[in-house]
Amino acid sequence: MRTEPRLRVSAFSAGYLADVPIVNELTHGFADGSVTTIVGPNGAGKSSLLNGIYGLTRWSTGSVRIGDLEVRRMPAWKRLKAGISLVPQGRCNFPQMTVLENLRLGAYTLPRNERSAAVAEALDEFPALATCRTRAAGNLSGGQQQLLEIAMAMVVRPQALLIDEPSLGLSPKARCQVFDKLQEIAAGGVSVVMVEQNVVEGLAASDVAVVMTDGRIHRNGPAGEILNDPEMKNVFLGGRPAAAGIRSRSAGDPR
Ligand SMILES: Nc1ncnc2c1ncn2[C@@H]1O[C@H](COP(=O)(O)OP(=O)(O)O)[C@@H](O)[C@H]1O
Ligand SMILES: [Mg+2]
Repeated sequence: MRTEPRLRVSAFSAGYLADVPIVNELTHGFADGSVTTIVGPNGAGKSSLLNGIYGLTRWSTGSVRIGDLEVRRMPAWKRLKAGISLVPQGRCNFPQMTVLENLRLGAYTLPRNERSAAVAEALDEFPALATCRTRAAGNLSGGQQQLLEIAMAMVVRPQALLIDEPSLGLSPKARCQVFDKLQEIAAGGVSVVMVEQNVVEGLAASDVAVVMTDGRIHRNGPAGEILNDPEMKNVFLGGRPAAAGIRSRSAGDPR
């Protein structure tokens, strides 16, 4: 029996100025155990949707639910406790603190007696970080820093991980590592919701695509289908054909 996705928004609007909705009456259930990637032109409201789900826009209306809990009126820290975690766009670690100290900060909202186990678990799950646990975060490569920020968001074992433009400024190899990690996190049951400008690589690493324009969902469906749809290529993806050799997981993999 199919159950409803745990993370759902309905008739959800959000914005910064009174009466100016940036996210406009949007309804969607973000599939559990999947990577959903939100694509669309600059200014479409993709970041505002993530920020709104996490409680960082100035105002919002409608509903944001995680499981049975309505969180739309909650402050961000309560949403985090309820199981929604966010990696915002851009570098968001504490560069002068070590990897370990950053992870401890990620664990700060957990009960005191659960924090060290959660940090140890994160180091197990991110072996690339374990080897540099005593280095200052700011001295890591861009890819390692992005993994650290994902690890900081995952320390609290969220049900939904929101992540904004994770591949920005990363080398192709680091982008692959980050997308692989997000797929691994989704395979563990988490609903991963990513905003990504790198449409071809992002959708190739995703199960579901949501195309957003003007604060609304223009279209959504299996990532492979959207990636290869001529309308999407021409209108939203800048006319770029799907890169040769990139096989979308959702097109060929029944998981
Ligand atoms: N903090 C903010 N204050 C006021 N307006 C904002 C703020 N952040 C974004 N906006 C506006 O919201 C619109 C959508 O922005 P954004 O959600 O960042 O789009 P996207 O991530 O799709 O590029 C833009 O017109 C932008 O100027
Ligand atoms: Mg954005």
